[in-house]
Amino acid sequence: MCGIVGYIGFREAWPIVLKGLKRLEYRGYDSAGIAIINDNGFNIYKKAGKVSFLEDFTEGKDRSGKIAMGHTRWATHGAPSDVNSHPHSSNDKRLHIIHNGIIENYSILKAELINRGHEFKSDTDTEVLVHLVQEIQEIEQIDLFEAVRLALNSVIGAYAIVIMDRENPGQLIAARKGSPLVIGVGNGEYFIASDATPIVEYVKNVIYLKDNEIALIKREELLVKRLDNVIQTPLIQELELKLEELEKGGFDHYMLKEIYEQPRSIRDCMRGRINAAEGKIALGGIKEYANKLKNVERVVIVACGTSWHAGLAGEYLIEEYARVPVEVEYASEFRYRNPIINERDVVIAISQSGETADTMAAIEIAKDKGATIFGICNVVGASIPRVTHAGVYTHAGPEIGVASTKAFTAQVTVLTLMAFYIAQQRGTLTTSKLTSLLTELNSIPEKVQTVLANNELIKDIAAKVKDSRNCLFLGRGSGFPVALEGALKLKEISYIHAEGYPAAEMKHGPIALIDKEMPVVFIATKNSSYEKVISNIQEVKARKGIVIAIVTKGDTEVEKMVDYCIEIPDADEAFLPLLATIPLQLLSYHIAVMRGCNVDQPRNLAKSVTVE
Ligand code: F6R
Repeated sequence: MCGIVGYIGFREAWPIVLKGLKRLEYRGYDSAGIAIINDNGFNIYKKAGKVSFLEDFTEGKDRSGKIAMGHTRWATHGAPSDVNSHPHSSNDKRLHIIHNGIIENYSILKAELINRGHEFKSDTDTEVLVHLVQEIQEIEQIDLFEAVRLALNSVIGAYAIVIMDRENPGQLIAARKGSPLVIGVGNGEYFIASDATPIVEYVKNVIYLKDNEIALIKREELLVKRLDNVIQTPLIQELELKLEELEKGGFDHYMLKEIYEQPRSIRDCMRGRINAAEGKIALGGIKEYANKLKNVERVVIVACGTSWHAGLAGEYLIEEYARVPVEVEYASEFRYRNPIINERDVVIAISQSGETADTMAAIEIAKDKGATIFGICNVVGASIPRVTHAGVYTHAGPEIGVASTKAFTAQVTVLTLMAFYIAQQRGTLTTSKLTSLLTELNSIPEKVQTVLANNELIKDIAAKVKDSRNCLFLGRGSGFPVALEGALKLKEISYIHAEGYPAAEMKHGPIALIDKEMPVVFIATKNSSYEKVISNIQEVKARKGIVIAIVTKGDTEVEKMVDYCIEIPDADEAFLPLLATIPLQLLSYHIAVMRGCNVDQPRNLAKSVTVE
């Protein structure tokens, strides 16, 4: 949801900022812009479209300078266009800003500024902010840092910003509230970015700016204050991210690379947390709450999109093994519903990015009502892990493809561990049962590897159904969240209309859609609802639907009935989502590639959704 990059130091800034924007392009890709300062003055280049358009557009132009800032946009206010691209400038063209987030009270501020003679070029909320800074600086006759601080005190909304001053070219001002911002600390240089990916190849040390903090950054100096004017001593942390993790590593797309990384990412997620031989599980991040979990009366899971699907898989696991009632809520609905939550509840917020605005808001509401909040996040140091009481990181590594793949299976792995951990505290699983479950969990990465070996078969099936206009995904029990996730993957990257349903619900409506043009993907593995799913398959075949079935290895019964079969290894029902999701990710991927879609950056989507 917009990416920002800044640099001040002794190196040529353009290549650093441009490469950084390409790394952040997964956050937004409808326009891009860079402002750069050199001895001859100030240049701003901006262009609708991808970062590469900006690169081509500036070919042969003056791109020299050692201080720069850049932005890649995911439009909130104003259509993608050159004029709405960032940076935006103040009325007097002295100040320039890049912004990730949303200024909610921008229309009131804009009206006031227009009354005071300001003229606006764009439709954006961002332009209002930079005009406001100019206005405050002129009226109060104060330095820019102070003017930005005062301006931010009067805006409502979320932001990560960087501001440049034409008259004071040796400094950058950065601030954040609700949108992420990291400062890379070098020797005589600083880097600024929405996440660490543009920075990792230059510096090891970073500062994660906190909400309501503002930084004055010069080549040799960094001053951080809170918005209430109290000076802060920033915590310098070492980056764990490795450069190789950000590259495609020989794959055509990040999404494919991330699908193939799942044996490793699931293993990383379990590392150090399970002792299968002794039937024990340790989750350091929530261990202080072991007693709370022993007596917990209810678990509420809040999340959005794919993370919400992981939550549904978690519901099945926690209810089955820990015998605690679970509710799974869309964070966006929960936040506006005056939900019934109390101090006896544990709320689990799931988010890959750790920045999703709706999930953040749901957490605040549950916290106000006294619940204990756990986070399950992938991005270390993001906003959600900061506001939760405790949590468990998924450790899946950076997920760059906009469609979530390895983050989903890592979230489900953490939820599996949490379910077993809660069961351990409550004594609802015997040690011998836990030992056998954990032993099987340990083998899941290898089983995922065998599912990946079906890639060519899945590609062939994709070729057969790629021109479909609709697709249904059906599953029961823990196969239901898999069906929902399969449908979401297909629709978001291939633009084929797809729906996920509990298989038994088909006869209550969706069956009307079935004809010889309709592919129906069934999760038909040998688990408790196997026989029932077989009946549902027969109902579809009777209406000439095209059936693709995900089946347990060696199943010959389903194979006889359906058009296409994809086998996955036999496993306890608890682990079905970890295995059955993989072929659906590959199916969507191949269909999208065959349809010529941009799988890593599907239209209209952004990786981290920091607006409502
Ligand atoms: C789909 C997808 C989205 C996200 C959703 C929540 O592939 O990635 O549906 O799952 O936007 O994002 P996070 O998990 O970052 O809170």
